Amino acid sequence: MQGIDSYRDEFPITERRNYLISASLGPLSRRAHDATLEHLELWSRLGPEELWFDHGMPKLQLCRERFAALIGADAEEIAIVPSVSNGLASIASCLDYSERPKVVATAMDFPTNHYVWKAQAPRGVELDVVPTPDGIRIEPSDVVARIDERTALVNVNRVLFESSWILDLPPIVEAAHRNGAYVVVDDFHGTGVLPLDVHGLGVDLLLSGSLKWLCGGQGIAFLYCRRDLILKMHPMIVGWFGTKEPFDFDRSRLDLRDDARRFETGTSTLPQAWTAAEGMGILLEVGVENVRARNQVLTHRIVERANERGMELLSPEDDSQRGGLVRVRVPGGRAKAEAALHALLARDVVLDQRHDALRISPHFFNTEDEIDSCFKELDSVLD
Ligand SMILES: Cc1ncc(COP(=O)(O)O)c(C=O)c1O
Repeated sequence: MQGIDSYRDEFPITERRNYLISASLGPLSRRAHDATLEHLELWSRLGPEELWFDHGMPKLQLCRERFAALIGADAEEIAIVPSVSNGLASIASCLDYSERPKVVATAMDFPTNHYVWKAQAPRGVELDVVPTPDGIRIEPSDVVARIDERTALVNVNRVLFESSWILDLPPIVEAAHRNGAYVVVDDFHGTGVLPLDVHGLGVDLLLSGSLKWLCGGQGIAFLYCRRDLILKMHPMIVGWFGTKEPFDFDRSRLDLRDDARRFETGTSTLPQAWTAAEGMGILLEVGVENVRARNQVLTHRIVERANERGMELLSPEDDSQRGGLVRVRVPGGRAKAEAALHALLARDVVLDQRHDALRISPHFFNTEDEIDSCFKELDSVLD
């Protein structure tokens, strides 16, 4: 690996803007940019057989392999899905809720998780939502207390998207399995910035996408299914690419693959496979442990700068409890936060805003100076 600092040059946007928003959209790298052009060049001169079989399928497989490497899984346990929402809906379609109707989720999950389970109500799903004590954290013991013999599945986020609180998963996995329930983790805010060993953790299913910390662009998400669970999963959302022999064009039976790709459906968003593979390639080269270490230095600095100004933190202050971002309340409410966001954008400081707070999410290529300059600009826009 080259020195971690040298990767900054991979991301041209850092020359022009103070880009502190990788939890929302990881920036385009030079490699992903060039890979996009490579795809276009191939498309401009090849027929479908050559483009798909010689280039597209291997590129999709490279994405599965790289995602698997990032989370400690095997490539056979990974399916490419169009979005986390889509993957979760596929998982939801696999289960029978007649004897176990309960799905345990939390009040701080990304809303799409809840929408998927609400849509399953006609099939018997009862959504049991664990409350948050403070709008920042979810106590694992509160989740554990809801899991019982009526629970089909526990769906939690490893890193909470608003506060970046890291949910301690082992007690949840233990309680779920003791009660015969599955654990599905939405890891969109964890993969790439927080090391993960899915096998060691023992979760059953996991979802994530390439567009945030993986710097791989929109349109590609990943579904992990634990190997010994794969054949028990019978999705109702299916398509020819999830079958063993899609090019036999045999409509007489549905013969789903024996690996996680049984969750795949139709033609994949091929151009994005080029960008996603490059984004994940960079993350693998740098190493998620190194990304985590660097991110902690930077988020710690954000906490310091916010504390110096007496700004209210809506994220954990303890470094070990915090994922990749810090949320800071803007005095004066939502309209003030929105105005601050736009004023900062005009000054090339790129963040995002949720309600009355700003979320600041530095990646490994950001610098301490950028954090300081972000707060200086914030001082002037809040004056
Ligand atoms: C934790 C989490 N889960 C799911 C989603 C939505 O994912 P998708 O748009 O791929 O369905 C998001 C989007 O930001 C998210 O932060």
